[in-house]
Amino acid sequence: MNEDFKVTPWEAVGEIDYQRLVKEFGVSPVTEDLLVRFRKLYGKLPFELRRGLFYAHRDFDKILSLLEQGEKIYLYTGRGPSGPMHIGHLFPFIFTKKLQDIFKTLLIIQLTSDEKFLYHHTLNREKVLSYTYDNIKDILALGFKKDNTIIIDDIMDIHFLYQIALSVAKRVTFSTARAVFGFSPETNIGMIFFMSIQATPAFLGYFIDERYKGCLIPAAIDQDPYWRVTRDVATKIRLPKPAQIHGKLVPGLKKGMKMSASVPESAIYLNDSPSDVKRKIWNALTGGQPTVELQKKYGGDPDQCVVFAYFKYLFEPSEEKLKKRYEDCKSGRLTCGECKRELIERINKFLGSHQEKKEKIDDSEVQEYLLHNRFDYKELMDKYRALR
Ligand code: TYM
Repeated sequence: MNEDFKVTPWEAVGEIDYQRLVKEFGVSPVTEDLLVRFRKLYGKLPFELRRGLFYAHRDFDKILSLLEQGEKIYLYTGRGPSGPMHIGHLFPFIFTKKLQDIFKTLLIIQLTSDEKFLYHHTLNREKVLSYTYDNIKDILALGFKKDNTIIIDDIMDIHFLYQIALSVAKRVTFSTARAVFGFSPETNIGMIFFMSIQATPAFLGYFIDERYKGCLIPAAIDQDPYWRVTRDVATKIRLPKPAQIHGKLVPGLKKGMKMSASVPESAIYLNDSPSDVKRKIWNALTGGQPTVELQKKYGGDPDQCVVFAYFKYLFEPSEEKLKKRYEDCKSGRLTCGECKRELIERINKFLGSHQEKKEKIDDSEVQEYLLHNRFDYKELMDKYRALR
């Protein structure tokens, strides 16, 4: 990968060139033809696809073929509970919810509490557990229903995952893992095994309901290394290769920087107060001119503006209104101050309602979604036995 930017499952730095990532990761762009097929099948298209925010894939065409033939597929996505969630983390979940509503299918959500415990030297088990509950509540506040959503916490549900993970781990050599993930001699051995745990939900669905013919994983493109290895193993254990639909990363509020837990001012957290939001957006990088006079004269550059990006990724569902905002910025009719004020209002409205919904979800409701409270262990294990 070129050195001017870097995207791995654990870090994203620099100005990301998404077209170059397509080549470097060996994924395919989402083409107009796929969007036409999606729209023909369902009569609508989520704006994340229409706007090229979920822009690349592996075998999404095959998933569409299955759906066109009336076959069933399930969805799988996840979160690593290393701290409070920011709105970037929520972005793939919002898109996934739309897909789940459109496909009317099962969604498996994995919480990789083990990965985060292993990766962050400073995180102890109690902290990870409390973030796990906290993050699940943020995810459930989006409205995922228990009848078609299963949550897996790797630590609490490990006995359900371990046999499939073993079948995966047996088929991944250390040299493959090192080449794909860039492990070094200092990497702890837990991280090396961990990829087989993230692979597992991509296969688990077939044992939950044998009618599923495919699995589609919506996530940001930073998770792609996991899927490369998972897909190789699929053939070896004679299960379908999971397909992916890859999203772009919601940019951080500061230039060339992703939203980072270590720099709280770079992101809008789901537990931020209205005044936090106001301060952060007010200080955010824009594509505007240094003064209102210059803005009116020369216009701004919405393509370089984080404030515009937040409207585009999350806070302006109307295509028409987004286009107007874009043009008004370019022509100088809209000043950065006005645009920021409107964004602050939208974010605070969203967060207010999100926090209210989250507040109503207690630990016992979280428990009800967890795999071990939903399925009979022995029944699933009997089905895995065919896996070598
Ligand atoms: P995590 O917790 O790093 O990220 C959770 C989800 O958010 C995506 N993401 C972002 N999307 C948009 N803008 C951003 N700035 C941004 N930062 C992160 C991630 O791609 C992910 O979709 N190992 C995973 C947990 C996991 C998982 C999965 C994720 C387990 N199984 C299946 C996706 C699909 C992790 O630590 O995600």
